Amino acid sequence: MTISMIAAHDPNLVIGRKGSLPWHIPEDLAHFKNRTRGHCVVMGRGVFDELSEKPLPGRRNIILTRSRNYENVEVCRNKEQVLKLLRDEEKIYIIGGAEIYRLFYPSCDRLEMTHIHQIYQGDTFFPEYRHEIGTVWKEVAREEQEDFAFVDYERIRKP
Ligand SMILES: NC(=O)c1ccc[n+]([C@@H]2O[C@H](COP(=O)([O-])OP(=O)(O)OC[C@H]3O[C@@H](n4cnc5c(N)ncnc54)[C@H](OP(=O)(O)O)[C@@H]3O)[C@@H](O)[C@H]2O)c1
Repeated sequence: MTISMIAAHDPNLVIGRKGSLPWHIPEDLAHFKNRTRGHCVVMGRGVFDELSEKPLPGRRNIILTRSRNYENVEVCRNKEQVLKLLRDEEKIYIIGGAEIYRLFYPSCDRLEMTHIHQIYQGDTFFPEYRHEIGTVWKEVAREEQEDFAFVDYERIRKP
């Protein structure tokens, strides 16, 4: 199973503000849709709240929560349960938020990042990974746009 984290962050690693995205970038939303379509997406209860508890269509949706129950998605209580449940999936996407990125960062194989050039105010952050580029992470793809860049990294060293 390949575990990929997909996220967009600003130059200070801001990913969220007051429970939402700080920006509205339609190209990034389209990129997210294209990458995750047909795959399994794993998210925290915070992100599921943000989606008004509606699963993302065309994808298998897994929600991490210690206490809540939902009828319309699969629910896991911890990381081990996620990995066991999804062991036969070829590729899974960790789609946030901050708590779930931190939880899976040590075990993920790929980072599919959007680097947003503008600085935003925020209260949630992606884990610091940039000091590990070159030792733990290798850049394998980059697509530059005017206001942001799509950059993929592959793990070259286990933690
Ligand atoms: N820029 C991006 O790419 C991006 C992507 C995704 C999200 N975001 C932003 O990130 C923010 C949300 O992040 P967040 O950190 O507040 O929320 P989150 O990570 O989505 O969810 C946190 C919740 O997940 C559950 N949880 C966490 N660790 C767990 C564990 N080990 N086992 C079981 N359940 C666990 C808990 O739910 P319970 O309290 O129910 O137990 C916890 O309250 C929003 O602002 C959102 O817009 C940004």
